[in-house]
Amino acid sequence: MCGIVGYSGPKSVEEVLIRGLKRLEYRGYDSSGIALMQNQEIVLFKAEGKLENVEKLVKASSPESRLNSVRSGIGHTRWATHGKPSVQNAHPHQTGHVVIVHNGIIENYLEIREQMIADGFTPKSETDSELFGFLVLKEMNRGLRLRPAVSESFRQVRGACSVVVMSEKEPGTLIGVRNGSPLAVAKIENNGGMIIASDAQPIVDYTKEVYFIESGDGVELSGGELTFFDWRTNREFQKTPTKIEWSSDQLDKQGFDHFMLKEIHEQPTAMVDTINSIRDKAGDLPFALIGQPGLKELQAADEIIIIACGSSYYAGLLGKYWIERYSKIPVQVELASEFRYRSPLIRPKTVVIGLSQSGETADTLAVIRDLKAFKATQPSNQSSLFNLITIGITNVRGSSISREADACLFTCAGPEIGVAATKSFCSQLTVLFMIAGFLARNSETRKLMVLSGQGVERENTGAIEQVFQEFLKVPHLMKRFLEPDSLWLRAIEGAADALLLSKGFFFIGRGYSYPIAMEGALKLKEIAYVHAEGYAAGELKHGPIAMLDKDMTVVVLAPQDSWREKTVSNLEEVKARGAKVLGIGLENDDRLKSLCDYWIPIPLPATSGDFHSLLYPFLLLPTIQLFSYRIALKKGTDVDKPRNLAKSVTVE
Ligand code: G6P
Repeated sequence: MCGIVGYSGPKSVEEVLIRGLKRLEYRGYDSSGIALMQNQEIVLFKAEGKLENVEKLVKASSPESRLNSVRSGIGHTRWATHGKPSVQNAHPHQTGHVVIVHNGIIENYLEIREQMIADGFTPKSETDSELFGFLVLKEMNRGLRLRPAVSESFRQVRGACSVVVMSEKEPGTLIGVRNGSPLAVAKIENNGGMIIASDAQPIVDYTKEVYFIESGDGVELSGGELTFFDWRTNREFQKTPTKIEWSSDQLDKQGFDHFMLKEIHEQPTAMVDTINSIRDKAGDLPFALIGQPGLKELQAADEIIIIACGSSYYAGLLGKYWIERYSKIPVQVELASEFRYRSPLIRPKTVVIGLSQSGETADTLAVIRDLKAFKATQPSNQSSLFNLITIGITNVRGSSISREADACLFTCAGPEIGVAATKSFCSQLTVLFMIAGFLARNSETRKLMVLSGQGVERENTGAIEQVFQEFLKVPHLMKRFLEPDSLWLRAIEGAADALLLSKGFFFIGRGYSYPIAMEGALKLKEIAYVHAEGYAAGELKHGPIAMLDKDMTVVVLAPQDSWREKTVSNLEEVKARGAKVLGIGLENDDRLKSLCDYWIPIPLPATSGDFHSLLYPFLLLPTIQLFSYRIALKKGTDVDKPRNLAKSVTVE
């Protein structure tokens, strides 16, 4: 979604802004712009499409001598909501001596627009954002200084958003306010100026000490100092910075053609870092989550509800399979956008997990907020009966979910720039697997009837210690897979090249492979713009099979687990309808191989006899990711910034 950067200080302002906006490109955008305060005059540069277009405008129209006089500015990447992508609708928006950038939505924009027109101003754009500048201008015309004018204006708008504002009347000053959409700010060491942005990524180039602005708070950047205030009461307060643990090197491609490819290769490290961050305090205890928040409640839960969107939803689904399998605690997985608008039933001892790599997804965050508000309305004598707890699992420290949930566990994937989730998804699986194992070791014996399913109950889970030892081997195994020119990699590339022109794809799997099938289809849609659907293999015959013909491809995920035979029967049904079959299975599965038109063998280590089928999803994952990547590459799409997508969806 939209990205904001603002800077005030001695460095080259346009360079800081453009560099910062490049760091935010991953969020998705379709136009961009910057506003520079040249002496006491605002100068705007805005363009549709890529940021380079703005860069060219700045270079072409501003002589060096003029740029040298600039000491502050704001910039923006816009992901269109109100009004199409165009230069007029691109931010920053100037109204009189005020200029603003905005992220989020102003819900009462129609009222403000009418007021603006009645006051004799003509809106220059179709956006809701522009109207905020008008409000600030009006307040300043009444005699307020910039900061109180921004606060007063912000009190007049409804909706989750954040805004950064400058005025020609107070050159060098920037005011940022937040209600929902995130903002981070920092003071650069050695009088290097002050920088504000939608997240920490534009900031870590200069400093690792970052302040995350809370909803309801604002910050003034002026005279080399940051002043924090509450925009509702104007009260000033002190704040402590958060130390960012990753470095700006991780924001570069480091020799890979795309961030997505780099991030697929970083998955083993992301897993190790995530496991270690959890194990640090736990020594050698298998699956121990000692010191992690929310554990007592998880152990005692009557039910766990995982709330998520997009890829995180699929990670949650796999989490359900693992957690129920191990802990016998019922788990529901719900799309946040659905959960929040129906009237879900919640048992007294429920733990709701908000699973979100960004920690900012509007719908997931809204569920956490709604549940907290609901809990607060329970009579105090009931509160011990009603022990609802929210736990965030996110990759971003300081994110809204991490702060607003009752407790938070962190994945340690580092920054993910490719819009399509890869290593963040893998780290979510890692944490969910750790939770499943932890609950298996620590849950009280549950009086639950477990239906003796065809597959699951026949499976031998083995001693928890042994499963844990195998789990610890996964990153190493994944790393071996990802070595250049492996047989596995060549098989993926060969299959992708051969199936490039397929009319459509179904990814099918059962059990633990089913959520990965859905994630595989999502990856293909996201980055290659190819129609693909993920299906439970058993469901194919209930409709989708009608679509199969020789131009369709069915990708069959069938590792040797207890569901394999059933999946192979479904494969036979597909073959009989003439569709092409790409099989993904274990390398020694000659029978599966013989049934497939194309075959990707997953190599297992020499000790494969011990390798537990619970862990196969970790090996299927890079396979489906690289398959989609290869198709996207061949199609020439923008792999890291696919059209119309945003990395962090901060509107519902
Ligand atoms: C967007 C991203 C997806 C992500 C989804 C949920 O659609 O493009 O990659 O899975 O949001 O994001 P979250 O940050 O909540 O995991």
